[in-house]
Amino acid sequence: MQDRNNTIAGWVLFAGIVALGGSIVTGEMFHSEKPEEGGYKIEGVVVEGEGAAVEKPIDFSVADATKGEQVFKKCTACHNADKGGANALGPNLWNVIGEPIGKGAGGFAFSEALAGKGGAWDFASLSDWLSNPKKFAPGTKMTFAGLANPEDRANVIAFLNQHGDAPKPLPAAPAAAAPAAGDKAAAEAAGAGAEKAANEPVLNEAQAAKGGQKNVGGDAAKISQ
Ligand code: HEC
Repeated sequence: MQDRNNTIAGWVLFAGIVALGGSIVTGEMFHSEKPEEGGYKIEGVVVEGEGAAVEKPIDFSVADATKGEQVFKKCTACHNADKGGANALGPNLWNVIGEPIGKGAGGFAFSEALAGKGGAWDFASLSDWLSNPKKFAPGTKMTFAGLANPEDRANVIAFLNQHGDAPKPLPAAPAAAAPAAGDKAAAEAAGAGAEKAANEPVLNEAQAAKGGQKNVGGDAAKISQ
């Protein structure tokens, strides 16, 4: 009887130790999981947003020449778009839409890279060019990194379109029913992502203020040292 009681007591003790060990391990997991979860979520949202921005077809139908004028300020160090304006570091851009690529009207000395490109400037080729000049014409003299944001490109091209003798109608929204539907879904997804992203940091700050201080503040303090 005594023996059996000892055995039982032993098992109870053992079970207790296992449970304690288990809860310590679980506790550890929870501790390290909280900050990691926040980090992953934000990263995911950012990547998603960038991906959508890159793949989203450019939509000129909502382009705004007034906003484009603001974007064009990034170009005025080298260009003007005035009628009869002089060439500067870059060629005058009046009437550029419809003109042959890399020829200009005012005798600008274009690079071979751009002059040899062929074709004429239209909305699509301008968007390609402005997203990444060096990729469009490797060896170009235009030392401008490019406009990554398709809205900026659409707006500045709408602005250029108005700076010509015969502005063209803006191209319609990205064509065909199927891509348009997909586009809408993508835009919605991106919108939801943006909303998420907008909420996320607030949530994290609240977490940090409440109880995360130990983890978040501690880690941040470590990094900043
Ligand atoms: C640092 C100066 C610089 C900046 C900034 C710059 N460009 Fe240029 N751009 C040039 C040069 C130089 C060329 C001629 C490129 C060549 O010959 O390879 C050029 C060429 C062009 C052309 C081709 C013109 C033609 O007749 O073929 C367009 C269009 C153009 N730039 C638009 C822009 C726009 C829009 C911006 C602003 C978003 C911009 N550029 C910013 C220097 C610049």
